[in-house]
Amino acid sequence: MSISFDFATLSERERYKLMIGTIIPRPIALVTTVDEEGRINAAPFSFFNCLSADPPILALGVENHPDMSFKDTAHNIRMTEVFTVNIVSFSIAEAMHVCGAKYPRGVDELKEAGLTAMPGEKVGSPWIAEAPAAFECRRHVTLELGKSRQVILGEIVFAHYRDGVVDPERFHVDPAAVDAIARLGGDICSTVRDRFEMLTPKL
Ligand SMILES: Cc1cc2nc3c(=O)[nH]c(=O)nc-3n(C[C@H](O)[C@H](O)[C@H](O)COP(=O)(O)O)c2cc1C
Repeated sequence: MSISFDFATLSERERYKLMIGTIIPRPIALVTTVDEEGRINAAPFSFFNCLSADPPILALGVENHPDMSFKDTAHNIRMTEVFTVNIVSFSIAEAMHVCGAKYPRGVDELKEAGLTAMPGEKVGSPWIAEAPAAFECRRHVTLELGKSRQVILGEIVFAHYRDGVVDPERFHVDPAAVDAIARLGGDICSTVRDRFEMLTPKL
């Protein structure tokens, strides 16, 4: 027995629920940007992943507000062409959640969440001192997928790591030190603490 769905017959909400419940775990990008006046903004996005290493490209899926206006993150990236993806560890999970609240434009969510903004090296957007890792990105291309969704591809131009997260000789990143959290369906998040090794079979 199986249960099947024809996506053409489903509502937008039903498709969303199936996709976010099934395509798991999704990493969470806590995206920091600045507006035209240099005011800091931060918001979490779990429609996020890495797509290419050469060029080094990551993707964010950003939904518009119901009235089709841009979220502050999308607005700021459009105006400044840059953003910073901060990886969310378990230790900053609560702070990430504070940044997801609907603050009006111009409110610095990092301050609200008690996180520390560090000046960007190559971009105007700050990175977060408490994050295990952060990628400074320049907007590569924006895909308008529908009237209310954009996928923003960013090229990574600079990376920051907290002490002990990466071995600078071997470029090995310690997953235990990153201690990333992921989003599942609904409001459920998870850690990635249960790991095992699988070697690709040699033919
Ligand atoms: C864990 C988590 C993941 C989220 N993922 C997304 C996402 O992938 N795309 C999106 O448009 N909104 C997502 N949101 C909602 C935004 O973070 C929220 O709309 C936020 O207020 C946007 O802020 P901004 O207007 O400052 O950009 C997520 C929220 C949380 C808590």
